[in-house]
Amino acid sequence: MNKNDYDQIISKAIDIQKEWRTVPAPKRGELIRVFGNHLRNDIEVIGKAIMHDAKKIHAEAIGEVQEAIDMCDFAVGLSRQLYGLTIQSERPEHKLQEVYNPLGVVGVITAFNFPCAVWAWNHCLAMVCGNSVVWKGSPKASQVTQSCKEAWDKAVSECFYPDLKFKDLLQVVEGDKEQAEWMADDTRINLLSATGSTAMGKALAPRVSARMGKGLYELGGNNGMIVSEHANIDLAVRGIVFGAVGTAGQRCTTLRRLIVHNSVYDVLLEKLKSAYASLPVGDNFKEETLVGPLINQESADRMLSVLQQAKAKGYIVHGGEVVEGCTVKPAIVEASEQCDLIKTETFAPILYVLKYNDLEEAINIHNAVPQGLSSCIFTDNVQEAETFTSAVGSDCGIVNINIGPSGAEIGGAFGGEKDTGGGRESGSDAWKQYMRRSTVTINYGKSLPLAQGIKFGD
Ligand code: UN1
Repeated sequence: MNKNDYDQIISKAIDIQKEWRTVPAPKRGELIRVFGNHLRNDIEVIGKAIMHDAKKIHAEAIGEVQEAIDMCDFAVGLSRQLYGLTIQSERPEHKLQEVYNPLGVVGVITAFNFPCAVWAWNHCLAMVCGNSVVWKGSPKASQVTQSCKEAWDKAVSECFYPDLKFKDLLQVVEGDKEQAEWMADDTRINLLSATGSTAMGKALAPRVSARMGKGLYELGGNNGMIVSEHANIDLAVRGIVFGAVGTAGQRCTTLRRLIVHNSVYDVLLEKLKSAYASLPVGDNFKEETLVGPLINQESADRMLSVLQQAKAKGYIVHGGEVVEGCTVKPAIVEASEQCDLIKTETFAPILYVLKYNDLEEAINIHNAVPQGLSSCIFTDNVQEAETFTSAVGSDCGIVNINIGPSGAEIGGAFGGEKDTGGGRESGSDAWKQYMRRSTVTINYGKSLPLAQGIKFGD
């Protein structure tokens, strides 16, 4: 897309938002309710597009559209709950109030691996909050972007026919890095929400900051699981397998580091090796497949090169064989220390396994990576579980007990700390980032007392 086309998109986004902001929020919610129904109708169509573009297996592709549907339901409810506080004033006959108004244009940049759900997190909130959305999906997932836009346009037709102007509340920017940079630099974009690698975020965030813009980042993860001596090992194995090999290891929440108590290390590793040995790896369109191909050859080559580097360090590598093309068997790597290779996110199904002796050591290992997205502990010991969620525990945005790090529900705020970018999307009060909070002070008296008791010429 050239700059001229892009500028036209932004102009339209600004114009349409001026109308949309005057539509009462529960009415805006009504459009999202209808949109959710269209997603329900189109679940297989969008699911197929996800299978085609992101190479997900059917169950996970459908699960991703379900996540977008859940987001619609959540946003419909929110459309009647965009509350502000009323606050007691220190002055007589005064009142303080928080009023939330729309921001304007929200730019959304999404990655190939969650091409529908992550957009929906942003889109549904941005819409009920009264904004327009300009969406740059991943160029690797253009079928998904198109099928989501079609579902949106159908919802607008159903709600507003023959007036279809609100279709432009969602517009698609086609492109890659250059277009992302236009968005980052663009003062007409009031919030830029970007999901992708830490490298992408670190390239865009300074540009957004340079114009004092608002950014919302959901970047790389390097998610760990502690398996304690008090863990239910079979439960942990199930959590590990889905967490590490689901979506072929290409979730930002994928389990990448396993930190296992010495006393259960051998038994856990044996169970894991046998679970991995029976994993159906192959064509993601085949019903029996659980692990499909990686997104492209570059990604597969990177995985193989990282496994070579791990071997060169003397680590023991199980699995990691090429099945064909960019389809690779998930790998388990037994490592003696958490080196730089392990501290770097490789977007592929590589699970590093490390040993520990006491919980403090495990938490130190866990937190000693640059990323801070998702984390978990498997333990039936309440002290260990509570410690992990406390101030001295995990430093991540998502902290789970007896659940793997991936597959979060939309109801909670999603995101993480450090190199993950600090953003929180989807549930809880994430909506506040899509609105401008005004603190309103109202004087309903007949005098004008000053705050802090200041006397000014009285
Ligand atoms: C992502 O990989 O960018 O928690 C999002 C999960 C999904 C979302 C992943 N609900 O794994």
